[in-house]
Amino acid sequence: MCGIIGYAGHRPAVPVLIEGLSRLEYRGYDSAGVGFIQDGHLHIIKAEGRLSSLKAKLEKHPCLLAVNGIGHTRWATHGIPTERNAHPHLGGDGKLALIHNGIIENYQELKAELLEKGYDFQSETDTEVLAHLIAEGRKQQPDMLHAFAWALRRARGAYAVAMVSPEDPGTVFAARLAAPLILGVGTGEHFVASDIPAFLPYTRDVVFLQDGEIVRINDCSWQVLSLSDLSVIDKKIQTINWDMQVAQKNGYKHFMLKEIFEQPHVIEECLSGRINLKTGTVSLPELQNLPIPERLRIVACGTSFHAGLWGQYLLEQIAHIPTVCDIASEFRYRNPVIGNNEMTLVISQSGETADTLAALRLVHAQKKTVLGLCNVIGSSITREADAVIYTQAGPEISVASTKAMTSQMLVMALLALYYAQRKGIIDLQALNQAAKLLKNLPGILQEALPDMEKTAEKLAVQFSKAKDFFYLGRGHAYPLALEGALKLKELSYIHAEGYASGEMKHGPIALIDSAFPTFALAFDDDLFAKTKSNIEEVQARNGSVILLTDRDVNPEKGMHIWKIPSLYGPFTSFLALSAMQLFSYCMADYLGKDVDQPRNLAKSVTVE
Ligand code: G6P
Repeated sequence: MCGIIGYAGHRPAVPVLIEGLSRLEYRGYDSAGVGFIQDGHLHIIKAEGRLSSLKAKLEKHPCLLAVNGIGHTRWATHGIPTERNAHPHLGGDGKLALIHNGIIENYQELKAELLEKGYDFQSETDTEVLAHLIAEGRKQQPDMLHAFAWALRRARGAYAVAMVSPEDPGTVFAARLAAPLILGVGTGEHFVASDIPAFLPYTRDVVFLQDGEIVRINDCSWQVLSLSDLSVIDKKIQTINWDMQVAQKNGYKHFMLKEIFEQPHVIEECLSGRINLKTGTVSLPELQNLPIPERLRIVACGTSFHAGLWGQYLLEQIAHIPTVCDIASEFRYRNPVIGNNEMTLVISQSGETADTLAALRLVHAQKKTVLGLCNVIGSSITREADAVIYTQAGPEISVASTKAMTSQMLVMALLALYYAQRKGIIDLQALNQAAKLLKNLPGILQEALPDMEKTAEKLAVQFSKAKDFFYLGRGHAYPLALEGALKLKELSYIHAEGYASGEMKHGPIALIDSAFPTFALAFDDDLFAKTKSNIEEVQARNGSVILLTDRDVNPEKGMHIWKIPSLYGPFTSFLALSAMQLFSYCMADYLGKDVDQPRNLAKSVTVE
């Protein structure tokens, strides 16, 4: 779960690497390092902590002559986050430097073998084992490329790796197995990186590497080879239509705030070509060759799981498809029984989450169909799923997911309408009404966001001393309550629990007192009165309440009413979600927390 970048070209490599790492920091940020060849020698500079510590160190080190190198930002798996464990790691007394994202599962047996051969280990990492193994390979193999492939063939687990060596001073070698790696093709320069924004200022031409592939780059050429026999693989260059704007803050204080405010645009993008207002139809061409599933199973992690849970309500209500929702890390070890006409939908912003990917593979092992719902093009899940729907949310930089969830929920809504339409169980008028509402959603949200931000700012000040929070919701507001609580805890480190309103009485209500506030969601639907009663139960125990609602409610003592615009039924959720995102954002910012990179988290969880 780290970020890697490699560069070979005509520019000073280190500034290119550092800039790239700053856009990969979402993948981990407990230490960072660069390795480059200058004057024929290998130089390694590493620092514990954020990238800024590495930058400060580099200021004292002349490094502008190097035109190729590798860089790494780390999220510790093996070995605590110290400078010693930071990457790159040297192999064989400086024959090569290696960076790695992933886990080498058989590193202990390989290490024992290398220790016996006299290799000296400076770190506790699995990566250093691989680095020495390559050096060992070099003793028997004709060149560095063969040594690299030889060692990788012995490694089990997951990796995206990149290597430089003074023996091949103009070259960067890289390879992948179950971890993302993309080649960037420029003019007189080439890149490899864990994610596209790392090299987006220089090129939009990319090649998605597959498992079991090695890539070799220098300034003027690139070549993809098969790990198994080093035969050349013919690969296609694809052009990405992202621009750098989306990978920058654009004047917002944090990426998270920018991404919240991007949501109206994201909704437009995600709807584009999928809703036809003239005919009142929803089209998802990605699904046209797949039968309508008798049952649907949604598998995901974190915020994506909450989007799936929200979708479950719609798929059952609108499309009458029995749906279950599973946490990927539980699903994969439960020996799940998957029915014959059941389809599995895996949801993942990154398309790389280890547990979700493992769930997909488990379903495939039972020869059942998997539909992927992903944001990152070319990611592992998109390559392995039988069909993929892209959320089209653009790169999400902030670790806490916002616009990606909105886009996932939107696709879930489209999916429910699409299947209802295919099954012929929704009349044209209702379909038209839903289609129109969704089309109007970007405008409504755009108009509402500035006021929501102001309310969120005020409430954040009022509730900033809270140590705990309940989030309550019923029906489709229940997954939103879970997400609201997750956002608050991950950003502000305030203990928060999301509950189905009806479950409060079964224990949690014992915690309520004047110091334990509740954030309640109650929308203008059949369930409003029920949630309102639960809120009264909280108030009766002196608990203060923020009520997020689209209904006119008379203010009562101890209750803060947060009125949002009303949309038809579940679609109000899109406004409610943005309001809760802003509340968590404002709380974290007011409390001085690191909003875009909360402690202990990473955006892409490629380890289980
Ligand atoms: C991490 C991120 C979350 C994300 C989850 C699942 O925990 O911090 O924001 O929801 O992974 O990620 P995915 O990429 O599979 O949606």
